[in-house]
Formats: sequence, C-alpha cells, structure tokens
Amino acid sequence: MEATAFAHPNIALVKYWGKRDTDLNLPVAGSLSLTLGGLSTTTRVRYRDDISRDIVILDGKELRQGSRAYQRVVEFVQLVRNESNHDYFAEVETANDFPTAAGLASSASGFAALALAATSAAGLHLLDEQLSALARRGSGSAARSIYGGFAEMRRGSRKDGHDAFAVPIAGPEHWDLRCVVAVTTQGEKDISSTEGMLRTQESSPLFTPWADTVAGDIVEATDAIKARDFQALGRVAERSCLGMHASAMAADPGVIYWNPTTLELIHRVRRARRDGLQVFFTIDAGPHVKVFCPARELSAVRSVLGQIGGVSDLIVARPGEGAALVAADAVNA
Ligand code: ADP
Ligand code: DP6
Ligand code: CO
Repeated sequence: MEATAFAHPNIALVKYWGKRDTDLNLPVAGSLSLTLGGLSTTTRVRYRDDISRDIVILDGKELRQGSRAYQRVVEFVQLVRNESNHDYFAEVETANDFPTAAGLASSASGFAALALAATSAAGLHLLDEQLSALARRGSGSAARSIYGGFAEMRRGSRKDGHDAFAVPIAGPEHWDLRCVVAVTTQGEKDISSTEGMLRTQESSPLFTPWADTVAGDIVEATDAIKARDFQALGRVAERSCLGMHASAMAADPGVIYWNPTTLELIHRVRRARRDGLQVFFTIDAGPHVKVFCPARELSAVRSVLGQIGGVSDLIVARPGEGAALVAADAVNA
C-alpha cells in the first residue's frame, strides 16, 4: 500500500489555455510539449489504516486542511480511491526540486508523479493513456508529463473525457536540444494558471481567435519535430506563446505574467537569433523565460542570458524521461 514515483515538468511549445469543462478538467484545445529532464518531483503515497484524513506534505511542510493545495491533492486521491477496492486515507509526501507554483510547471510534474504513485500504491495498473487522462484531472499539463520527450495532448471529443489524454510524439533521444530556464524572480506567482485561463476565456475578446489557431499549430509543430527543423519549431512556439499571453493580457482585468526582465529576455533572444545563434523562447504562466537551442549552442546561449541583470538563475534542462516508479529498495537506501 505504498509507492514512490517521480516525474519531470514539461514546457508547452503549443500552449494549453482554457477549459471546456472545469469538473473533468477538459481543455478547450490540444497542446504539445517537451518533458524537461533536470527538474523533478518525487512523490510517495502511503495508504494507512491508522489515520482519519488524508495528510499532504509538500516541500517539507504539512499542508493546512482548508488550503487550496491540500484540497486539490485530496480530491485527486479521492478519484483514485473511487477506482480501487480500499478506502484507506493516504499520506502523500511530495517535493519539487525547483520553485513551486512559480510558472515552472510544478502542477505538471506534481500531478503526473501523484497519479502514478497513488494508483500503484492502490494496486491499480493503468495503461499510459489512462494514467495520462487521470493526471489531467489534477492539472491539464500533467497529462503530458506521463511521457518522456515530446508529447501531444489530445483535446478529445467525449463528454466523459476518456479520450482527452496525451500521446507520445518522439522520445527524449530524438533530438539533442537544451532548454535554458532563465529564472527572473523568486516566489509564487500572483495568479495561478487555473485562475488565469478561466478569467481569459470568460472575458478576453482575443481568447477564441487564439484558441482557433491551436489545432493548426500542433500539426506544424509535430512536422517540425519529426523533421528536426529547429527554425520551424521556433516560429510556431514563439507565436503560440505570444498569442496565449496576448489573449491573457486582453482579459478583464488583464492577466499579466511578465516582468521587465521577461521582456528584456524576449528581445535579447531575438537579437541573438539575428546575430546567427539558433535560439527561440517560450514562456508559460509566469515571468520566467525558457530558451531553446541545439546542444552545441548551449555555452553561447548561457553567456548571452547570464549578462542580463534581472536573471537570478539559469537552469539547464534537456529532453527528459516520462513518469516512473522508484524501486522500494532505492527509497529505503
Ligand atoms: P505551476 O506553474 O507551478 O504549474 P500552477 O498554478 O499551475 O503553477 O500550479 C501550482 C499548484 O500546483 C500549487 O499551488 C499546488 O497546488 C500544486 N502543486 C505543485 N507541486 C505539487 C506537488 N508536487 N504535488 C501536488 N501538488 C502540487
Ligand atoms: C501556460 O496545467 O497548470 O503552462 O489544468 O488548471 O492545472 P490546470 O492548468 P495548468 O496550465 C498550464 C498553462 C501553461 C501552458 C501549458 O502548459 O500548456
Ligand atoms: Co501548472
């Protein structure tokens, strides 16, 4: 009745933004991402017969019963309990080795690792697509972190959401890319991804026009990935990112995740590209900028980004593996 799993966050190259069903957490459109090795979440789930409610420890701190983060984990664990033939409460101990709730996709690695640990501890063995659809219930982006490398989230068309899961496009070995995460501030963001996207879809006149571009962008990004066409992938990724942020900024009141350093990084990356470097950027719901380059350009890209005063940290990620269980003897060692 115990299992430990780890998962990596992922960065969307074609963004997910908007829900068509908030209970089942169904997206308005598909999305596409790269799983990022180098950052990870490790989660242990233990079902215990000696506790009378779920216990959640995140980054070393026990979460308060009424808190949003606690509630989110408990609701997820309840979904798993409903599918299994036990009704024990769970002790969930999880930690991210990168900033939580800051725009670095902690909800993606967090719920991918929790989906795998909570089902395994309950003795459930799900297919990848089932695990992905389950992870989606916790956080839409988590559906993609089940897989290594590039993954596509399918919008699906069923009302019950059983066809809204991610599928793999190409494994981590397919393309030797690097993603340099330029961290621009410390601390949590003011507006969670969930809140930001709901406000955007409810009040931004730019939301629907942007959402209508997603299916075409997924086709183009997939072709670019298969052909390892860096320039083509960069073009789609930057326009998907800027379009998503433009739609968010046009909400009422506007949702702005950027700070001055974010904008400086955008211009710096574009200037480096004009000067001949192979680079492109993307930004999730937060102020940090993720800069992609072929592995051979890494040191040049690092030195460009390192010169910017507002950048507090550079984290180098590479295509990572999908969510996996950690062997019990490795945990106890
Ligand atoms: P991010 O950009 O980090 O994904 P979100 O606003 O999407 O930000 O989600 C952050 C929330 O995800 C946290 O406030 C918390 O509720 C949840 N979360 C983050 N890490 C974990 C984890 N390891 N296990 C469970 N839930 C997590
Ligand atoms: C901008 O998956 O965090 O990073 O489903 O409400 O948990 P919830 O949202 P979440 O949103 C991610 C938004 C994004 C784009 C992306 O990852 O595709
Ligand atoms: Co998130």
